Amino acid sequence: MRAPLDLAAVEAMDAADPLRAMRERFILPEGVIYLDGNSLGAAAPAVFNELQKAATQEWAQDLIRAWNTAGWFDMPVALGDQLGRLIGAAAGQTVVCDTTSINIYKVLHAALAMRPDRSVIVAEGDSFPTDLYMAEGVASTRPGTVLRLEGVDAPDIEDLIDERVAVILVNHVNYKSGQLRDMAALTCKAHQVGALIIWDLCHTAGALPVELDSANADFAIGCTYKYLNGGPGAPAFIYAAKRHHDKVQQPLSGWWGHARPFAFEQGYVAGSGIRRFLCGTQPVLSMRALKGALDVWDDVDMAAVRKKSIALTDLFIQLVEGRCGAYGLELEGPRDGKQRGSQVSFLHAHGYQVMRALIERGVIGDFRAPSTIRFGFTPLYVGYKDVWQAVEVLEDILRTGAWQDARFAVKTAVT
Ligand SMILES: Cc1ncc(COP(=O)(O)O)c(C=O)c1O
Repeated sequence: MRAPLDLAAVEAMDAADPLRAMRERFILPEGVIYLDGNSLGAAAPAVFNELQKAATQEWAQDLIRAWNTAGWFDMPVALGDQLGRLIGAAAGQTVVCDTTSINIYKVLHAALAMRPDRSVIVAEGDSFPTDLYMAEGVASTRPGTVLRLEGVDAPDIEDLIDERVAVILVNHVNYKSGQLRDMAALTCKAHQVGALIIWDLCHTAGALPVELDSANADFAIGCTYKYLNGGPGAPAFIYAAKRHHDKVQQPLSGWWGHARPFAFEQGYVAGSGIRRFLCGTQPVLSMRALKGALDVWDDVDMAAVRKKSIALTDLFIQLVEGRCGAYGLELEGPRDGKQRGSQVSFLHAHGYQVMRALIERGVIGDFRAPSTIRFGFTPLYVGYKDVWQAVEVLEDILRTGAWQDARFAVKTAVT
């Protein structure tokens, strides 16, 4: 049992925080404690500067010349390399493009085609649903493909992996519980039976360090609008290990992935390297916003991010269980910080109403049906005092029964 904390102890944690100055690089509205950066990251003025420049100078003044003069055409690969540093990928293996769902389709289809004599895709029953929907879509293009699901066909993913498996599509951090998987171990298990593995890094990129190259991963995909703060609908990314570049053929064979896009040839010839994962014209303004968001990371040490993330989430669990334990909350995810992403979830029978009441009081987390209240802790801008204050509000809402107010029972879209 740890010693009970007081506000002074928590303020001392903020004072000693090596990432404390990063908070100044974000806009955090007055009166809000933002614990939803695992859904949509906060805005940074650096993002607006890039947007402003891209719109008013490059687009308005340079017009079509900007594809070359401002480097618009090369941005998917340039941003990919910038992001690659945060996910342990050496240059030339990451590209920023399209959406996570589209990238899952491209990569899964391509990986399946690399194992033509195998028919099984393994995924997780409790995956973020788009991964499963896209897997169904890919499977429908190749009759006889079977989808094996953890939690449905066997309790553990390891039990589903055998010589019939072509590809494993798996989340590094579960979106609901925050459970973290051992990337190197599962990748090794996949390779032992000759299968390929695709990691969904939506809840990893910018939340904790990850080493794709040293884990020997085959492919990864992820979004940039959560912990990377690229903005709503920001473009996603694909990682493909260099050893696969010459063999892999993705199905959305648009002109940006062509070997000679400006030769305007009739037949498709895949380009070299990671560029072959591109499809068509990319959203330049969104890319430029992402550039501003990624620039913020240039001097950030991912080991410090991880250390703070574990400290924030440990503190939250300790305070919630110490102060709100009598009110029907149950920890949903891992208790061991080393097994946790940068989020904490609790189950509550009336989780929807509790979250609505919290949001009305300025503590923004989110709700995932049927009964999960989920809190994300972005180490760049969430402080220890935020955690303390959020728990004070939660305790008040539960103790007074404020969540029972009739207006919180009416379902509205909570993202
Ligand atoms: C694990 C995971 N994969 C995929 C997505 C979403 O994909 P897209 O960006 O295409 O909407 C999310 C969104 O929250 C997610 O959590």
